[in-house]
Amino acid sequence: MSTTTTSSHTPFAITERTQRASADEIATVLENPGFGTNFSEHMVLMDWDREQGWHDARVVPYGPIPLDPSAAVFHYGQEIFEGMKAYRHEDGTVWTFRPERNAERFNNSARRLALPELPPVIFLDAIKELVTIDQAWVPEAGSGETSLYLRPFMIATEEALGVRPTNRALFVVIASPAGAYFKGGLTPISLWVSELYVRASPGGTGAAKCGGNYAASLASQAEGIEHGCDQVVFLDAIEHKFVEELGGMNMFFVYGDGRLVTPELTGTILPGVTRSSLVELARERGMIVEERQFTIDEWREGVASGLITEVFACGTAAVISPVGRLAWNGGEVAMPDSHEVTMSLREELLDIQYGRGEDAHGWLYQLV
Ligand code: COI
Repeated sequence: MSTTTTSSHTPFAITERTQRASADEIATVLENPGFGTNFSEHMVLMDWDREQGWHDARVVPYGPIPLDPSAAVFHYGQEIFEGMKAYRHEDGTVWTFRPERNAERFNNSARRLALPELPPVIFLDAIKELVTIDQAWVPEAGSGETSLYLRPFMIATEEALGVRPTNRALFVVIASPAGAYFKGGLTPISLWVSELYVRASPGGTGAAKCGGNYAASLASQAEGIEHGCDQVVFLDAIEHKFVEELGGMNMFFVYGDGRLVTPELTGTILPGVTRSSLVELARERGMIVEERQFTIDEWREGVASGLITEVFACGTAAVISPVGRLAWNGGEVAMPDSHEVTMSLREELLDIQYGRGEDAHGWLYQLV
């Protein structure tokens, strides 16, 4: 069935799947969604080229995207993405969290990767359209921390092997019902210090959310897994001593004297929406938040001396994960057992996102 919607600022041509999934089929997936392996029934597509700009916004059945083998994205990785979630509240309504931040970061990433910027209103409308048509895929309220994970992305589609900015691009949004990011749920994660490789260097793409950054993290991630760790910690590219971030999450260190330290945004670190929200929430509870350079030795010594009482990582997908162990070539150290501040910040954030707590900052944005 093809219709055009005017419910948003952007007209979307909608082609609905002829045979919709049954309530039972959806319930089976939502019972144990995992992370990023199941997808809802539709996706948003929109084309861009230098002559026409953005055009042909559409919602179509979820499925493969035909691309020429010479499309630039396959060869030079001209690609950016975002990670967001749709949360169902107790009254059945569906909301997302600070999406204008994602829209802004998407455009910052686009500029860095020489891709076209997307008007934020189109970005927000696209999310709304997809979640509206696939709202049955947003898990019920009160089902732990399940949500519908949203993945907007943009790829260079021009058929050309010359290394230059693309003249054609495709914006896509897909949605994936999600449970806990880590298989162990809230079990403290273990981290491997990458000494061989760095994730990003000054002047590089570290602050952009582009596939290349994640591709560059995977050899270290494999090394970490070989050593029994869940994630990798990357250090700065110049002195190899400042903690930057994990493969896909920002880091926080809790001090017993009420301080919270997180690596500052130097241009090589991804400016996480969860990170900046936690900085605000912690300051509002009277904690002193220091955004500064933080060395791996300060981490190890702080744990040894007992000054650091908790360590956690955060991101949209995994929310907040306590860290239980830090390992490197030739050693390891267990993190303190306490997770009080970590868990209470986690609770406060989730309460806002799921509508159980007051949204004093106006961070929520209604989708359905
Ligand atoms: C997120 O937290 O949403 C991310 O994008 C991190 C990772 C899943 C790539």
